[in-house]
Amino acid sequence: MTPSQPHHRTALITGATAGIGRAVARQLAADGIHVLAHGRDPERGAQLVKEIAAEGGSARFLTADLTGSAEVLALAAAAGEVDILVNNAGIYAFTGTADTTAESFDRQFAVNTRAPFLLVGALAPAMAGRGHGVIVNITSTAATSPAPIGAAYGASKAAVELLTRSWATEFGARGVRVIGVSPGPVRTAGTTAMLGDNVELLGRANLRERIGEPDEIAHIVRFLVDADSGYINGTVIVANGGEPSALPA
Ligand SMILES: NC(=O)c1ccc[n+]([C@@H]2O[C@H](COP(=O)([O-])OP(=O)(O)OC[C@H]3O[C@@H](n4cnc5c(N)ncnc54)[C@H](OP(=O)(O)O)[C@@H]3O)[C@@H](O)[C@H]2O)c1
Repeated sequence: MTPSQPHHRTALITGATAGIGRAVARQLAADGIHVLAHGRDPERGAQLVKEIAAEGGSARFLTADLTGSAEVLALAAAAGEVDILVNNAGIYAFTGTADTTAESFDRQFAVNTRAPFLLVGALAPAMAGRGHGVIVNITSTAATSPAPIGAAYGASKAAVELLTRSWATEFGARGVRVIGVSPGPVRTAGTTAMLGDNVELLGRANLRERIGEPDEIAHIVRFLVDADSGYINGTVIVANGGEPSALPA
């Protein structure tokens, strides 16, 4: 027996207008969770809300540019009482260190690290006060497997993995679970914009020899926000197709 779920749960999902976040929004809505779908693009936001409603779910679009701390805090205020927070919105610049400007570094840390930090600060205390809540942070294998490019991005996500364990420590005893999901390459608008038709190449190096799909990451989030995963806390689940051995076959 698992503990019962609180009824009529509400989830704030950042970056729900595209890619992984969009798949998460649709899957959580299909489970009867009221979705607060955050993004910047109002057209894709409205389209998502419409699709969820057509499938019998319930969703509302909330907009905010997560590069600004005031906008992040306004987003938390607009969201109100949430049971689930999925910190998914993220940006990635795959540049070498010498080619990464201070502005690019700051932008990646603002969206990938500071925005989740401020959202957790604004929303987790109330979850803890109610005695339940789940926070899922979408990190990246770039946090743990350095590549010759993208050091700033990897660092921004490594910080989120540490924060995942910090927040589980800070809020775990009061009923709030905090878990990271670390995807390897996934086919999304972001990766396609970067690589076009060559996006498949991203999957070549893993043991499944293919790129992941947004729904495969969303399935994990769906499980993690369910009471059935109640003993998983303060850790990071990796979904990357499997890391190849350093030894030749
Ligand atoms: N795709 C991969 O291969 C991969 C691998 C590992 C980890 N991840 C992580 O997974 C997450 C989702 O990635 P994805 O590939 O699905 O992303 P994506 O297709 O590029 O979509 C990014 C989402 O984040 C939102 N966003 C971007 N910048 C924002 C900003 N300044 N303010 C507010 N929202 C902003 C976008 O909103 P609008 O479109 O409305 O502007 C969009 O909804 C990210 O954290 C990423 O680092 C992705």
